[in-house]
Amino acid sequence: MDPALPGLGLVDRGMVAETGGRIVYAGPECDIAATEIVATETVDCENRWISPGLVDCHTHLVFAGDRAGEFEARLDGVSYEEIARAGGGIAATVNATRAASEAELTQGARARLQALLDEGVTTVEVKSGYGLSAAAEYKLLRVIRGLGRGVDIACTFLGAHALPPDIRREDYVALLCEEMIPRIAAEGLADAVDGFCEGIAFSPEEIEKVFTAARAHGLRVKLHADQLSNLHGAALAARFGALSADHLEYTDEDGVRAMAAAGTVAVLLPGAFYTLRETKQPPVAALRAHGVNIAVSTDLNPGTSPLNSLLLAANMAATQFRLTVTECLLGITRNAALALGRTDTGVLRAGAKCHLAIWNIERPAELVYQIGCNPLHQRIWSAV
Ligand code: NIG
Ligand code: FE
Repeated sequence: MDPALPGLGLVDRGMVAETGGRIVYAGPECDIAATEIVATETVDCENRWISPGLVDCHTHLVFAGDRAGEFEARLDGVSYEEIARAGGGIAATVNATRAASEAELTQGARARLQALLDEGVTTVEVKSGYGLSAAAEYKLLRVIRGLGRGVDIACTFLGAHALPPDIRREDYVALLCEEMIPRIAAEGLADAVDGFCEGIAFSPEEIEKVFTAARAHGLRVKLHADQLSNLHGAALAARFGALSADHLEYTDEDGVRAMAAAGTVAVLLPGAFYTLRETKQPPVAALRAHGVNIAVSTDLNPGTSPLNSLLLAANMAATQFRLTVTECLLGITRNAALALGRTDTGVLRAGAKCHLAIWNIERPAELVYQIGCNPLHQRIWSAV
């Protein structure tokens, strides 16, 4: 037992039992005798720690090209916003992604995905958003859906990521609301709709239109909110019952209060904070005070967070945002699943999917404390 980590429900000499891909028992080994469960086959984990399979709840891992040149420009002092306004940034990735075939996009995405899986991740959210035309966005959604082998994929439509160069603003928003979202909902092409509410992307009024369309077609929403400035995106997301509001560096207490009332999860993205050398801290104390569930994710993308490691994201959340180890571990398991609207993964309890990570560690804090080290012994993903 590790008494330093209350709130995680740690069990010493524990046992997990599964049938048909679902957990039927998780608890002390000595208590299973009191249940009706009869083990037909047992695996001795030799005193290793077992956690839920990890959940990465915010990635943009389907894209083509790279942004190493932009990285170098930022080292020379050019800002992310300046690069975006000069036609680089997201727009540069859009050009490369539009030109790539589904096979090329799949190949690149699989390599990035594999790096996550190798660290015990069993559920990954993947956003579109580097197509920004109907045809290119549908292409990305098909690629994302096709990634779901040996891993649970949550597919999010992020058509409202940036304004494409070849269409008027109001026409693009109308295309999103009147053509793309209705088709995506009708054909089940995505599980949720996301947007980027920011001066360099879409205004709160435009996001409201996108969210109104999404909700009218039965899709849940998420939002890149208050990353670079406070446009009150968190409160906007909460008004639409968002699953999550993500980034949140500039969110104020009213925004946090609205998230708490709506049950919207706060997804913190320390890789983007680090890469952009942001100094404005997300409102962690207010999130705690109002009881908002906090998740942590890689935000894996070619621009602001070329981060292929969820364990490193957890370490960064502790070091940069001062999250506790318990908060980090819940942030990459249970709360990350909640940010996807899922309660049957990210936890070890009867009824949940049997997605597990088995670790070569002495104590759970090592998962957060180590940098650039992968202590995974075995990953178990169950098709259910
Ligand atoms: O989550 N904030 C907007 N979207 C991404 C960045 C994407 C990019 O720069 O390519 C993010 O940080
Ligand atoms: Fe993002």
